[in-house]
Amino acid sequence: MTLSRALHCSSLLVTALLFIFPSSAAEPPALFIFGDSLVDAGNNDYLVTLSKANAQPYGVDFGFSGGKPTGRFTNGMTISDIMGESLGQKSLPPPFLAPNSSAAMTNSGINYGSGSSGIFDDTGSFYIGRIPLGQQISYFEKTRSQIRETMDEEAATYFFKKALFILAAGSNDILEYLSPSVPFFGREKPDPSHFQDALVSNLTFYLKRLNELGARKFVVSDVGPLGCIPYVRALEFMPARECSASANRVTEGYNKKLKRMVEKMNQEMGPESKFVYTDTYKIVMEIIQNYRQYGFDDALDPCCGGSFPPFLCIGVANSSSSLCSDRSKYVFWDAFHPTEAANLIVASKLLDGDAAAAWPINVRELSQYEHK
Ligand SMILES: *[C@@H]1O[C@H](CO)[C@@H](O)[C@H](O)[C@H]1NC(C)=O
Ligand SMILES: *[C@@H]1O[C@H](CO)[C@@H](O)[C@H](O)[C@H]1NC(C)=O
Ligand SMILES: *[C@@H]1O[C@H](CO)[C@@H](O)[C@H](O)[C@H]1NC(C)=O
Repeated sequence: MTLSRALHCSSLLVTALLFIFPSSAAEPPALFIFGDSLVDAGNNDYLVTLSKANAQPYGVDFGFSGGKPTGRFTNGMTISDIMGESLGQKSLPPPFLAPNSSAAMTNSGINYGSGSSGIFDDTGSFYIGRIPLGQQISYFEKTRSQIRETMDEEAATYFFKKALFILAAGSNDILEYLSPSVPFFGREKPDPSHFQDALVSNLTFYLKRLNELGARKFVVSDVGPLGCIPYVRALEFMPARECSASANRVTEGYNKKLKRMVEKMNQEMGPESKFVYTDTYKIVMEIIQNYRQYGFDDALDPCCGGSFPPFLCIGVANSSSSLCSDRSKYVFWDAFHPTEAANLIVASKLLDGDAAAAWPINVRELSQYEHK
């Protein structure tokens, strides 16, 4: 156990320590990041879409940009930003659609995440522009051919073997399934179990595709407690301090199937590949239930956009009615996304926590894992 690891385990101040003890010795791995607005680092800024975070107060606490919006759907860093920094990355993976992104592909890696996108291609069509997970993987294929132009096959194989492939998708598919107003692909809704199976099956297909393309280390995120996010609580007219049990049930059912799939992938794909399942659901629930212990004053209201629909956060005036006074005291930033303060706690548990947080090994162990 390293010094930083021991400190992490012994204290709730984990979050501050992350930045004091980045893993230094080894070269940090490149990160290839796929998913939705929880990880989007600015791709949607290059799309015609209703799903954008390109105006204040988004990014107000994002140090790398001096508090300017970057397209991240939170006030500061996302969970994958924090993990990258803690693993020693000097700069964060740029959004694939940024003009110059390929300059960074062999150093930091690339971020393909896109707000409002889902595992299913149709998810998020209400928002118009977005990059569905399948398209994100096609973009990675482009990156991969560009990388092959800069190094020989052996070097590229080694490079991809060491890189972390982070997938955080599924939230928007489930949100759309839960929403009564959005017609579900113009068809009748399948029952929850079939819906969850189809999601897991599609995600499995994409994981196998990435594996064929050379990916060996995977971080597969579950979906957080959607029944507790301000949007769903309003949608289901939940009383104060209550989460929607039915929405959480659909989410938990998906997560259970996802974890089983990850276990199966670890058995089937052999020691050459390692899949880590992260349980953000449990971590965020624990934070919400014990929010004061974690230093928060408010567990369920958004800091930005007011406590009831339409939850307008983007571009809002700097007034107390639309922006809370202390962003570090709120679990939720807007109606859908956690604050950086919450992200810091989640990221520290995924990086250095036990098997309840990241399974079968944590993300730091995955980054140091030597393939057989
Ligand atoms: C809010 O207003 C204060 C004081 O006028 C200013 O310093 C701060 O940058 C503003 N924040 C945002 C998000 O506009
Ligand atoms: C593009 O990448 C190069 C090499 O990393 C860097 O020197 C340059 O500043 C970048 N340009 C922009 C516009 O980001
Ligand atoms: C993905 O999901 C769709 C819609 O439910 C389904 O028709 C399709 O067969 C799935 N694809 C895979 C590879 O599982």
